[in-house]
Amino acid sequence: MKTLTVVPLCVLVILCLSSGSEASSALDLLRETAVSWAGGSLPCGGWDCECAFRRQQGCCCAAKPLFDLEEAIFMRMVGLWDGLSRLNNQVQEVTAGSRIAFTATMLPTARCLGPFTSNMSISYQSVSLNQGSGYNPALGTFTAPHAGLYSFSFTAYSRVGDADRLYQKVQLLMNGQVIASSWEDNREDSEDCSTQTVLLQLRRGCQVYVELLSGRQLCGDAQGNNAFSGYLLYPSTEE
Ligand SMILES: *[C@@H]1O[C@H](CO)[C@@H](O)[C@H](O)[C@H]1NC(C)=O
Repeated sequence: MKTLTVVPLCVLVILCLSSGSEASSALDLLRETAVSWAGGSLPCGGWDCECAFRRQQGCCCAAKPLFDLEEAIFMRMVGLWDGLSRLNNQVQEVTAGSRIAFTATMLPTARCLGPFTSNMSISYQSVSLNQGSGYNPALGTFTAPHAGLYSFSFTAYSRVGDADRLYQKVQLLMNGQVIASSWEDNREDSEDCSTQTVLLQLRRGCQVYVELLSGRQLCGDAQGNNAFSGYLLYPSTEE
């Protein structure tokens, strides 16, 4: 009587694991066999099956399909494992470089920066944050350590004496291309401040910096109001 309980168990196991047609034909055969079994020897037919249910060794009649099924499942698991490892590597690659942020301001001065005879990149030398070490205060340049979407802001501040004229223009560049600018040219007031924010999709190694345009000047920034900051909004795997 033990055989009767073993056969449904096998059926159950195959039911849980199978999806191929080979497995379902083995299942059919098992079911047929179980249904038609009358207590004598089993009609294992052409199966490679030296054992007999009589000897109560369970699924020996289905040994070959079960073995094939096991092989198929094993191969699928190997494939899944492969995929999982690749995914894991990608996740690590993405998250490893995801802490990128910097903030820097110009050193306070009562005097003016500029005017120069050419566009001059501004080196914001007072660095209060530089996670990921993307910002170089000597050059004033941010170099993307990782590909992704970045946010950048810069503030242009200038204060001139009553007799003087506000004449400032700064621009943010990505790899030499002007992305955004901010300017003043008036005698109506003597102090002004403006901020620009841009989102940029950067590849690794892309450079972003801020320039003071030739002939213009930033004056009287006694508190380091001129600032440049940026951070990685989210990384991308594209390099
Ligand atoms: C300086 O910037 C201005 C404005 O973007 C541009 O027209 C000019 O060609 C630049 N000068 C140089 C030398 O790159």
